[in-house]
Amino acid sequence: MIRTILTYPNPELKKKSAPVTVINDSVRELVRDMSETMYHAPGVGLAAPQIGVHQRVIVIDVSGSDEVPGLIVAINPVIVHAEGEAYEEEGCLSVPKYAANVRRHARVVVKALDLEGRECTWRADELLAIAFQHEIDHLDGILFVDHLSPLKRELFIRRARRLAESDGEGS
Ligand code: NI
Repeated sequence: MIRTILTYPNPELKKKSAPVTVINDSVRELVRDMSETMYHAPGVGLAAPQIGVHQRVIVIDVSGSDEVPGLIVAINPVIVHAEGEAYEEEGCLSVPKYAANVRRHARVVVKALDLEGRECTWRADELLAIAFQHEIDHLDGILFVDHLSPLKRELFIRRARRLAESDGEGS
């Protein structure tokens, strides 16, 4: 089922998500809904809190731009190693119509459980490395705009307020 994606400044996006303790039917259904919602948007990644579920689950598919495999499901993902620097433009389904460059690590090693409860390790670079960092941030209530410099962040907040006001006026 396609779920509604919460958008900034919804306070649900600021909450920290809890680890999944048991991979049961409700987690499998969550992952199905998240994948459907991500592909429908369309986007390259989605974290459970973006649909209002505060569990540590992310889905990623960056295969449109690279030869990496398709859908990645990561439950309780943890970055166990990070190195290098990247500064690429990012967007987010929860921050529509906005993009900005963000400082990230260029390469990460991520450990997580898959839907069968097996521990998986991904050695990621390029877009996949950025996607893992972006989606795992969501699980800690962090949006990519939280990484902007104070000045850029202030401009973003003012812009978001202006957009919210003009929406309110129906213009
Ligand atoms: Ni996002």
